Amino acid sequence: MQTKLQELEKRGLAEIDSAKDLNSLQEIEVKYLGRKSELSEIMHGLKDLSPEEKRIIGPLSNATKTTITQALSNKRSGMEAEKIRQQLSTEFFDLTYPGKPHEIGHIHPLSQVQAEVENIFSDMGFAIMDGPEVESEYYNFEGLNIPADHPARDMQDTFFLKDKSEAKHGRLVLRTHTSPVQIRTMEKYGAPLRVIMPGRVFRYEATDASHDTTFYQVEGLLIDKHISLAHLKGVMEEFLTRLFGQPSARREGEAVRPSEGGLGLVGPKPTANIKVRFRPGYFPFVEPGLELDFSCLLCNEKGCSVCKRTGWLEFMGAGMVHPNVLKAGGIDPKEYQGWAFGFGLTRLVMMRYGIDDIRLLQSGDLRFLRQF
Ligand code: DAH
Repeated sequence: MQTKLQELEKRGLAEIDSAKDLNSLQEIEVKYLGRKSELSEIMHGLKDLSPEEKRIIGPLSNATKTTITQALSNKRSGMEAEKIRQQLSTEFFDLTYPGKPHEIGHIHPLSQVQAEVENIFSDMGFAIMDGPEVESEYYNFEGLNIPADHPARDMQDTFFLKDKSEAKHGRLVLRTHTSPVQIRTMEKYGAPLRVIMPGRVFRYEATDASHDTTFYQVEGLLIDKHISLAHLKGVMEEFLTRLFGQPSARREGEAVRPSEGGLGLVGPKPTANIKVRFRPGYFPFVEPGLELDFSCLLCNEKGCSVCKRTGWLEFMGAGMVHPNVLKAGGIDPKEYQGWAFGFGLTRLVMMRYGIDDIRLLQSGDLRFLRQF
């Protein structure tokens, strides 16, 4: 047994020494150290030997294994070093070649404008609230004074979640507007309130250049004692004047992008403050309801192609919060009143940058996004 081990070691070392490449080295490893190798058999058989034999053969077989393993590893690293040496002498490696730069991302135009909107309203003392995108029929409709049989339900085509419904709040829907956050905010904080609620909304409708199934809105709500629409007018004039006067809208010296089919509001700083006007409008959650327009930035009310010669741009819906909505939010309409508004953040971004197709905003197309 002893001589067999010595002979095994000698043979193994010789074969390793004369191995030509890494593959044959691999074969040698299997042959001498693998599970079916002679060495493994000997080590397996140790338990059947007499104690005296064990005392000699045990350590000896271990030593053989160590010697062969060591020789294999030495030979292998020698071969690998030789391979690299050969590659370096035959292949050209240009150490001065520049690496691939990491691209740095930036904030999406929707998020940029959302942040500006939030900053301006925060300055005016408004808090910012979030609400769930998956809503119940109760918050999206009933609480907002839109009962099930009300024709206004058809004003907004709704995505319903399959087989999902709550006993108290009806089926689950993807919210069609940010107005449900009004109710949630009133329930949580009561009156008085001064909040804006930006967020993503969903409509089940065909997409085209000005419609998408997913877009962003900003809801506003102000509730206190002695509140009138005059306050809404003042707040919105201030908001729009600050927004369109912001440096990121029109960098100094930036070329005016004439409306490339869009509303083309990127341009010179507005010379005058922006004005707003009200027109009657209908929304079930406000009474009276109204539509708010602001003075065209390009022509200053003189009339141009962007405002279709009217001098005004349609901006949002608003009105005095309906008593039923205040009640749904747990606020006493005899003690408090207020106004609410909702505008399309996506549309605002399109107006500001002269974007003529809404679908570009969520396309993830880098050729589009790199422009911002
Ligand atoms: N929720 C309305 C929509 O999506 C917009 C709106 C109109 C919101 C009037 C309001 C409002 O808060 O008072 O079309």
